[in-house]
Amino acid sequence: MSILTLSGSPSATSRSHRILQHIAAELRAGGERVDSLAIRDLPPAALCAADTKDPAIADAIGRVAGARAVIIGTPVYKAAYSGLLKTFLDLLPQDGLAGKTVLPLATGGSLAHTLALDYGLKPVLAALGAHHLLSSIYVIDAQARVEGEGLALDAAIEQRIGEGLLRLRETLSARERASATRTPAPASSGGREPLAAPLTA
Ligand SMILES: Cc1cc2nc3c(=O)[nH]c(=O)nc-3n(C[C@H](O)[C@H](O)[C@H](O)COP(=O)(O)O)c2cc1C
Repeated sequence: MSILTLSGSPSATSRSHRILQHIAAELRAGGERVDSLAIRDLPPAALCAADTKDPAIADAIGRVAGARAVIIGTPVYKAAYSGLLKTFLDLLPQDGLAGKTVLPLATGGSLAHTLALDYGLKPVLAALGAHHLLSSIYVIDAQARVEGEGLALDAAIEQRIGEGLLRLRETLSARERASATRTPAPASSGGREPLAAPLTA
C-alpha cells in the first residue's frame, strides 16, 4: 500500500500542491511508494453532482481506499480549508479514512488562520475514521516562494516538513510491527478476537 498525496487547491499554480510534490519526491527518494491525486483534475460536473459512479471519481475514491497514509494539502480560503477539498471528502464513505494515518498541510496568506486545520479540517478527518491524525503543517506564503515551476522553502519549513515525515514514517512502522506481532484469534472463536484476555490461575 502506498502513501497518497491529496491536493485540494483549485489553483493551476498552487503553492500547497507544489509542497505536496516536494514531499512526494522526498518520500520516493526514501524508498516509499507514493501516489498523487489532485482534486482539481477530476471531472467538475461529476464532482459537484457527487457522481461516485463516474469512472474518474470512482478511481479517486479507490486510490484513497488503497492508501495506508494520506497527506492532505489545502489552501486556506476564507478562514477554512478549500471548498474543493470538502466536495471530495463528502464523496468518501463514512469510514473512508479508517485505519489510515493522515498528515494535514495548509498554505495561507498570513498566520491569522493557522487554526483552520485543527478546528476545521481535523474534525472532518476524525469523522471519516482517520486512525492517526498527525500534527498539522501550516506554511505562510512568505515561507514558500514560487520560483518558476518550483518552490523555495524557508529552512524552518523544510525542518517542519522533515519532522512531519519522520513522524509519519514512525507511525507507519509502528503499525506494521504491531500487525506483524498480533496473535491470530484461535480457530474455535470463529476467527474473532476474544473480547477479554482469558483468566489465568
Ligand atoms: C479566495 C481566496 C481566499 C483566501 N482566504 C485566505 C484566508 O482567509 N486566510 C489566509 O491566511 N489566506 C487566504 N488566502 C491566501 C491563500 O490561502 C494562500 O495564498 C495560499 O497559499 C494559496 O494556496 P494555493 O496556491 O495552494 O491555492 C486566500 C486566497 C484566495 C484566493
